[in-house]
Amino acid sequence: MIDSIKIIQPDDWHVHFREGEMLSVITKYSSRVNKRCIAMPNTSTPITTSIEAVNYKKLIEDNSDNDNFEALIPCYLTDTLNIADFEYALQNNIFIGGKLYPNNATTNSQFGVNNIKEIYNIFEILEKYNKTLLIHGELNRSDIDIFDREKYFIDEELQQIRKSFKDLKIVLEHVSSDYGVDFVKTNNNIAGTITPHHMLLTKKDVFKDDVVNPHHYCMPVVKNENDLLSLRKAACFNNSKFFLGTDSAPHHVDYKKQNDSLKAGIFSSSNSIELYALIFEEENALENLEVFSSINGPKFYDMDVNKNYLTLNKEDRIIPEYIEEGNIKIKNFYANKNINWKASHLHV
Ligand code: NCD
Ligand code: ZN
Repeated sequence: MIDSIKIIQPDDWHVHFREGEMLSVITKYSSRVNKRCIAMPNTSTPITTSIEAVNYKKLIEDNSDNDNFEALIPCYLTDTLNIADFEYALQNNIFIGGKLYPNNATTNSQFGVNNIKEIYNIFEILEKYNKTLLIHGELNRSDIDIFDREKYFIDEELQQIRKSFKDLKIVLEHVSSDYGVDFVKTNNNIAGTITPHHMLLTKKDVFKDDVVNPHHYCMPVVKNENDLLSLRKAACFNNSKFFLGTDSAPHHVDYKKQNDSLKAGIFSSSNSIELYALIFEEENALENLEVFSSINGPKFYDMDVNKNYLTLNKEDRIIPEYIEEGNIKIKNFYANKNINWKASHLHV
């Protein structure tokens, strides 16, 4: 039995750090094991300018436990972006790329884009500077079933973006369906992040009769068994185009009740690499964890692979139900369940 593995230090290419007290409480969890994280820009006032990006990056890095930790910031794309500032920020590596939130697709996406064709000029700029377009790939329209939003986005928007900007690097964030996996696999210049929860849950864990489990409710919503299996296969075996992105998205427990204010998002960064290790072990693919967690991401973003290493040891433990500090109370993903790995230490 393998009881210890050593991997190149991972990066997490999709994290929500939030702001205020929440940010100060949760940043240590992502900086615990990762060297770099993409800090998603859907804060309550979205990050749309170079100055906001510089300040947000500093705020996160100052709150991290680890001196070498780096937050990478994509620009929250809107219909009314200041294009000169956006270009300046791309040229100076202030923005790693642009994040497309279709309007009202998820938390704080009310500032997102209504008509994607109208921001094709922005895609052209990203392509010109070889920067990445990160996409929340869901189309939220009243005639579209919640489980089909990713498929419709691919068919009605992504196909067209791919055809119009052949050299534009695209990341389909939190791929959630077999259809999405297939699109990433069969198209050029596109990669996908995969979360632990999309490889551990199906819709039965979220919806039972007419009751929703608020702690398993996220966007894109988890889907069927065949989608889960396809995502596991993509992460564990087909894995040059897929990499680690937890989409760890904390909400205070008060927003995790089944009512009108229920917010989508699952918090997993407190056990991120351990959850992936558990999944890769179940798939008999532990030897492929490193390429998924630490190599494919930097390669896609044209960055160096990290120099340090992280050791994970076998250690049975139960994930505590909550993270509680000051006024913050967040439910852990996989709470009260057994996990059999623990990241121990970073080393050269
Ligand atoms: C995220 C959030 O809470 O910011 N929610 C989620 O369900 N994943 C936003 C997102 O990435 O969709
Ligand atoms: Zn997210």
